[in-house]
Amino acid sequence: MIGSGTFARVARELRDDLTAAQERDPAAHSVGRVEMLLSYGGVQAILSHRICHALHQAGVPLVPRVLSNIARVATGIEIHPAATIGRGLFIDHGSGVVIGETAEVGDHVTMYQGVTLGGTGFARGKRHPTIGDEVMIGAGSKLLGPIEVGAKSKIGANSVVIHDVPPNSTVVGNPGHPVRVEGKKPSGPDADWIHLPDPVADAIRGLANRLTEVEELLAEQTGRKPQGAEVKPLSARRGPDSAGG
Ligand SMILES: CC(C)(COP(=O)(O)OP(=O)(O)OC[C@H]1O[C@@H](n2cnc3c(N)ncnc32)[C@H](O)[C@@H]1OP(=O)(O)O)[C@@H](O)C(=O)NCCC(=O)NCCS
Repeated sequence: MIGSGTFARVARELRDDLTAAQERDPAAHSVGRVEMLLSYGGVQAILSHRICHALHQAGVPLVPRVLSNIARVATGIEIHPAATIGRGLFIDHGSGVVIGETAEVGDHVTMYQGVTLGGTGFARGKRHPTIGDEVMIGAGSKLLGPIEVGAKSKIGANSVVIHDVPPNSTVVGNPGHPVRVEGKKPSGPDADWIHLPDPVADAIRGLANRLTEVEELLAEQTGRKPQGAEVKPLSARRGPDSAGG
């Protein structure tokens, strides 16, 4: 049912969204709320979604989808009416943003143009990302599947993220990998993109050691000097970034 409570909630959400835009758009020095409402595509798309979502929750057929499509045509931002969006979302520039049906976005999230919160296939059920509070998602980033992005994390521009992201982390690249966790460079085997295990070199080294042993035995019996079989350590080839390349 849509009652005065629903209108009050949408009005409250709109106030929060406008505050978010004023606080987080460095270009909004002296832009008033009315001007924002009239000229910020991101703000318009979120307002439209707040209304569509309320109608969708009230079980109104067709209208939410039609309204959301009108908002998409007008702003270039597509938010499914069923998507759950927290308070104070700011979508800067906006064009090309897609937020899927089962996506959940926490409070005070910021995202830029070209962001996709999408699914990975034709699976039904929960198939879109869950974004924690105060997350920043850089321009052009694709977050795919029912992954979770921890609170206060940052997703670098143009990343493709297909795994969970811990809170307070920075993830960049394709596939997205953490370059900062709690402000520090992550350590441990999963984060070491240079010193990868090399099973082929390990097998050759094992054979070489056994050959040396056989040569030493032979040398003892024949008096011939063993040659020794040395396997040079493999050196990693460095690309332009820490992910190799
Ligand atoms: C990722 C980002 C948030 C910076 O986060 P941060 O925690 O301050 O991280 P840093 O700047 O210290 O960078 C960490 C590492 O990631 C690399 N990096 C940063 N952004 C990157 C990106 N988008 N793609 C690939 N690598 C990136 C840095 O070179 C650095 O590498 P290093 O550890 O080898 O030195 C920022 O670079 C970014 O992409 N912001 C999005 C902004 C945006 O979309 N603006 C659109 C405005 S219209």
